[in-house]
Amino acid sequence: MPALVVAGAQWGDEGKGKLVDHLARQAHVVARYQGGHNAGHTVVINDEKFVLHLIPSGVLHEGKLCVIGNGVVIDPACLIEEMDGLINRGVKIGENLLISENAHLIMPYHMALESASESSMGKKAIGTTGRGIGLAYMDKMARTGIRMLDILDPKLFRERLRPALDNANRLLDALYGAPAFELEEVFEKYTGFAERLKKHIGNAGFVLNKALREGRNVLIEGAQGTLLDIDHGTYPYVTSSNASAGGACTGLGIGPTMIDAAMGVVKAYTTRVGNGPFPTELEDELGECLREKGGEYGATTGRPRRCGWLDIVALDHAVRVNGLSGFALTKLDILDGLDTIKVCTAYRLDGVTTREFPPDAATLERCQPVYEELKGWKDSTSGIKKLSDLPVNARKYIEWIEQRLGIGADMISTGQRRDELIIVKENFR
Ligand code: IMP
Repeated sequence: MPALVVAGAQWGDEGKGKLVDHLARQAHVVARYQGGHNAGHTVVINDEKFVLHLIPSGVLHEGKLCVIGNGVVIDPACLIEEMDGLINRGVKIGENLLISENAHLIMPYHMALESASESSMGKKAIGTTGRGIGLAYMDKMARTGIRMLDILDPKLFRERLRPALDNANRLLDALYGAPAFELEEVFEKYTGFAERLKKHIGNAGFVLNKALREGRNVLIEGAQGTLLDIDHGTYPYVTSSNASAGGACTGLGIGPTMIDAAMGVVKAYTTRVGNGPFPTELEDELGECLREKGGEYGATTGRPRRCGWLDIVALDHAVRVNGLSGFALTKLDILDGLDTIKVCTAYRLDGVTTREFPPDAATLERCQPVYEELKGWKDSTSGIKKLSDLPVNARKYIEWIEQRLGIGADMISTGQRRDELIIVKENFR
């Protein structure tokens, strides 16, 4: 199987980092296709915690080519900081890191505009990570963005920067009374970043297609999750990229026929950070308990995550949107000790029962969850590595999800550490 996409099936933070780290062992190339440093992928190796924001989680295995695709928006300061942090901890970053020359850059004015816009929206704010992600994608679509290859050529860079910066300064002043950015200051800073990054910048699409033609295993790592997808998520409370599997083609420059499978990462319950509807949210002690036990605080911003029961209606939507061939279930151990586990199987919307997920936020806000109750388990699942060692009711919970979604669980994560994992099916040969 040459290309496998791993995408979040909920609102992000499903634990993709650990699974990508595992799958990367058998991959030759690991590639990120969208998002930016709004993502935080956590991998724990021998009690040492690594949080990756931009660099694919495959970097923690020596000898893997890690690609940051054209669909990713890059804050070069953050990327360099991440590279240095890894190098200081003994991780090799050299020819194994390839950044697409067509990836767009997050500029300082993107962050300033986002922060001013979010503050001005009050209760209607999206609750972004404050990283300038949406504004960078806005400039990309408006054709006023600055790409990696632009900063490699000082003349071209200045030509592209001047109108973009003038425009941003005018907006900052007129809409928010915020201070302007100096062209020379931004120019100097970014040409410095270019100097550091230039040896990693190249034609990522060409390299990826060559690897695929040669039959190499390519692992494609999604960030955020399907319900945060700009087209298929709970708009407008979404991120600004195609986080679902479809984004892998445009975000890497590979064709759909190159992708063999898509694995959805599903947390055993649901979490969400930022604003927006969340039908199965638990705003009580149990929600608090899941947050504390599951360490549900944002890996990027430290914000507490909202917690709730598993939502099959939303997951079914993710199965369709991503064309999922299987799923990985994470954080099963956090549900240990519960007498009963509730699972949402339908919504009540304006007096009618529906199993259709309305991605529009206003409609979803009106949906009431319809629950089915499953029996919990008392024994610990923490660290279990064999399916047959799981408590009977934990296995029943997994089987129940499999039946509802019509796809199988390929992997089950039972703890934070790298080896706390049950492998049901290997995706790469
Ligand atoms: P942005 O991506 O910073 O523009 O934020 C848009 C929405 O996506 C907000 O609700 C964020 O909390 C959410 N979001 C962005 N990245 C992540 C992530 O990696 N995990 C979970 N939520 C995220």
